[in-house]
Amino acid sequence: MVGVRLSGLGKRFGDVVAVHPLDLEVGRGELLVLLGPSGCGKSTVLRMIAGIEEPSCGEVHIGGSRVDDVEPAGRDVAMVFQSYALYPHMTVRQNLSFGLRMRRTPSEEIERKVRWASGILGLDTLLDRRPGQLSGGQRQRVALGRAMVREPSVFLFDEPLSNLDARLRAEMRDEIAALHRRLGATMIFVTHDQVEAMSLGQRVAVLEGGTIQQCGTPLEVYREPANLFVATFVGTPPLNTVEGVLGHDGGGVVFLGGGLTLAGADALDAPGSLAPDDDAEADAQARPVVAGIRPEDVTLVGAGAATAHVDADVLRVEALGSELLVHVGGAYGGPWIVRASSDLEVAAGDRVGLELATERVHVFDAVTGRRLGTLGSREA
Ligand SMILES: Nc1ncnc2c1ncn2[C@@H]1O[C@H](COP(=O)(O)OP(=O)(O)OP(=O)(O)O)[C@@H](O)[C@H]1O
Ligand SMILES: [Mg+2]
Repeated sequence: MVGVRLSGLGKRFGDVVAVHPLDLEVGRGELLVLLGPSGCGKSTVLRMIAGIEEPSCGEVHIGGSRVDDVEPAGRDVAMVFQSYALYPHMTVRQNLSFGLRMRRTPSEEIERKVRWASGILGLDTLLDRRPGQLSGGQRQRVALGRAMVREPSVFLFDEPLSNLDARLRAEMRDEIAALHRRLGATMIFVTHDQVEAMSLGQRVAVLEGGTIQQCGTPLEVYREPANLFVATFVGTPPLNTVEGVLGHDGGGVVFLGGGLTLAGADALDAPGSLAPDDDAEADAQARPVVAGIRPEDVTLVGAGAATAHVDADVLRVEALGSELLVHVGGAYGGPWIVRASSDLEVAAGDRVGLELATERVHVFDAVTGRRLGTLGSREA
C-alpha cells in the first residue's frame, strides 16, 4: 500500500527550478531517506508534501487520496525540523500538548497521549522543565514527541539531527529507527549526511539539482550507483576515481592514467551500452570514461608485486584505531584513499603496490556520468 505518492511534482521560484517534476512512491510504513547536498531541493519536496509550499506542477497523494487542495493541518502529516521550534515559555508538557489543545482534544486523551510519548522518549522526569533547561538532545526529543502525539500517518523529518553532536546524533538515529519500528508509520527523512541516510533508510532517494538521481536500498545505491554523482556522494572515504579512455579496439581495454591499465572492459555489466552502432566510428573515437573504486576494494601489496596493478607512493597515513586510511598517489593520478588493517606497517614515503578488485571497478561515461558497469576479473 502506498503511504505517499508524488507524481510530476515540481517547484520553481521565478526562474529558479528548485525541483524538477519528479515521481516518487513511499510505501505505507516505509522509512525513506531523501539524501542530497545543500540546495538540491530536499526541504522544498518535504514542504510540498506537508502543504506549506505550493507546488508549481504535479500531485501529492497521501494514503491513497490526493491532498493538493487540503490544508496542512488536514493532511495527517507531522513535520520535525532542524530548529526544534519549541515554545520557550511553555513547559515540556505544555509543548507536547499544545497542538492537541488547539484542536480541542479532550483533556483525558491529551493526558494519555502525552504520557505515552514521554514514556517512549524518556521525557517523564522533564515534563515540568522549559526548553531553556534542556540539552539539545532532550529538546529534539520534545520536538519528536510533539509530532508523535498527533499520531500522524506520515512523519516528515527535515534534518532534525544536524544541531546535535556526533554521539547524540547516532543515539537519536537509533531512537528514530526504533520509533519507526514501534509506530509502523510512514516516514520521510531528509538529510545531507550520507552515513545517516545509509544507516536509517530502508530506501534512499538521492537528490541532486532538483532531480532524483537514484532510489534504492542503501546497498543498491552503494554497490550499483546509477551515476558518478551518486557514487562519489555516497561512501566515506569517497570513491577513488581516475580518468581514462575506453578503447573499442584492442580487446576492449580501459587505459587509465599513466602506468595503469585494466583489462576486462568487455565484461562490463551493460555491454549493450558499449556497442555503438557504427564500429568504425567507435574505433575512431575512444570513449572517455571515469573509473571508480572504493577504498575497501584496493589492497596494498609490495611495490612491483605480481598482483599489483600499479605502484604508488604513500602520502599520508591516518590511523583511526580500527583501521588505517592510507593516502596514496602516483603517476596514474590520485590521491586515492585505501582502507587497510591497522596491523599493516606502512608510513608516508613508502612505495607500495595497489591491487584492485577489478570486478568492483565501476566505469562511468565521462560526459554523462552514467554508470556503464563494472570491469570483469583481470586478464592474465
Ligand atoms: N522561497 C524561495 N525563493 C527562491 N528560491 C528558493 C526559495 N526556497 C528555496 N529556494 C531555492 O530552491 C533550491 C532548493 O532549496 P531547498 O531549501 O529545498 O534545498 P535543500 O536541499 O533543503 O538545502 P539544505 O540542505 O541547505 O537545507 C535552492 O537553490 C534554494 O535557493
Ligand atoms: Mg533544507
